[in-house]
Amino acid sequence: MSRVEALRRFLVRRWKPIAAGAAALALLAASGGVLVAWSGLYSVAASKGHWLVIDRFLRFGMMNSVETHAPDVEPPPLDDADLIRLGAAHYYAGCAYCHGAPGLAMTPVAQHMLPAPPDLTSHVSLWTDQELFWLVKHGLKYTGMPGWPVQNRDDEVWAVVAFLRQMPDMTQQTYRDLALAEVEAEPQGGEEIARGNAPDAVSACARCHGDEAGPPKSELVPVLHGQPREMLENALRAYLSGERSSGIMQTAASGLSSDEVAELAVYYAGLEPPRRTIDTAALSGHGRELAESGDPARRIPACMSCHSESALPVYPRLAGQNARYIANRLKAWQAGQTARTDTAAIMVPIARLLTDDDIAAVSDYFSSLPQAGGAGR
Ligand code: HEC
Ligand code: HEC
Ligand code: HEC
Repeated sequence: MSRVEALRRFLVRRWKPIAAGAAALALLAASGGVLVAWSGLYSVAASKGHWLVIDRFLRFGMMNSVETHAPDVEPPPLDDADLIRLGAAHYYAGCAYCHGAPGLAMTPVAQHMLPAPPDLTSHVSLWTDQELFWLVKHGLKYTGMPGWPVQNRDDEVWAVVAFLRQMPDMTQQTYRDLALAEVEAEPQGGEEIARGNAPDAVSACARCHGDEAGPPKSELVPVLHGQPREMLENALRAYLSGERSSGIMQTAASGLSSDEVAELAVYYAGLEPPRRTIDTAALSGHGRELAESGDPARRIPACMSCHSESALPVYPRLAGQNARYIANRLKAWQAGQTARTDTAAIMVPIARLLTDDDIAAVSDYFSSLPQAGGAGR
């Protein structure tokens, strides 16, 4: 029996004396509260801290609230390397400036918040996976701990939880490798990678999306190399306006100027698509059939009519895209993510016609298909 249920039964049995007592108490507390607030005696200074008993009381209430509200759901496998890498990369931009990170101290500003953000390397073990999920998704009222920027991307929240689980044992080097995707080995031939006219903002994107040196390291991050400029720009503007829902990308794109958006789109559109080892088995069969002919009986159009090289430049190319990213995106639309842009409105009804088998087959097909061109679009 849950705590809430036990309380409910007790209240039903003894409601009369409880109601009278509660009314009297409420009146007393309310007038007391008004008096304290009116007098201005309680200090709201963040420099002083709460009295110890208030501090303990608030923490007790907070921990119980999180325990009560944490959802009863099965987490995805949290030892998934793609998920951990994506979570680390987001943590670097979205959490570390308050909580610190392996080898990275908290900023003095964060240290003087009340309550101060705890060092999570020692705190994650206090919580279950579901509780961590709830904390990261909803944040904590009156503490400065923010909720996830959008409420319909549980998949992204789990990526951060997967990283948090690894964080206590992580060295500074491992953290930097994951979050910054630093290239350890010199590129082939020992040459420095020429950034050319790449805009300054590229380094903020390369951590996740890669650059001239290579494609994204997490399969959950889309390959941008060689996508049409119009499509890239369109997507970035949709994140900035909030029409395309992603707490990770909305955080990463925030602060970009309109000129930077345009420059970044030109930059990634001009990159050579990454070379892949082709999985010939995935190139025949059901995935190819759907891509080239669709399934007229189920009213599924041929994917290639909108995703080939000659399609409209605001449509994304799928050849050479990461299979896990493709599948993830299609499943998000199926799970009810609604279309809020003109382009998503075209795709969402199609995504909802696909079965899990269809999704697995087309994802493998497109990720194995070599991408044409790249430069100059
Ligand atoms: C603006 C500062 C700030 C940012 C950004 C922030 N947090 Fe927090 N966080 C806090 C504060 C303050 C608390 C402490 C609340 C308390 O003690 O009641 C907290 C508490 C937590 C807790 C509960 C730990 C505990 O035992 O009290 C977790 C887990 C957490 N944050 C994770 C994250 C993650 C993951 C991110 C990034 C997605 C993040 N936070 C971003 C300020 C921040
Ligand atoms: C922390 C990792 C991370 C960083 C940093 C990041 N991105 Fe992303 N990006 C993602 C993920 C994950 C997605 C998929 C989001 C979704 O589901 O819509 C994405 C999606 C995109 C898309 C849409 C691609 C498509 O195929 O629809 C574009 C464009 C993009 N990012 C550009 C950028 C640019 C430009 C920057 C630098 C300012 C950047 N990203 C920084 C992780 C990142
Ligand atoms: C009538 C045109 C059309 C057809 C047919 C079509 N799509 Fe799309 N698709 C789009 C558009 C437009 C978008 C961009 C959606 C957005 O902006 O969020 C898109 C986006 C996608 C994405 C996300 C790509 C990315 O980079 O983020 C995937 C995956 C996808 N489609 C798969 C498919 C599959 C699989 C099929 C065939 C079963 C298919 N599409 C058929 C128009 C189409």
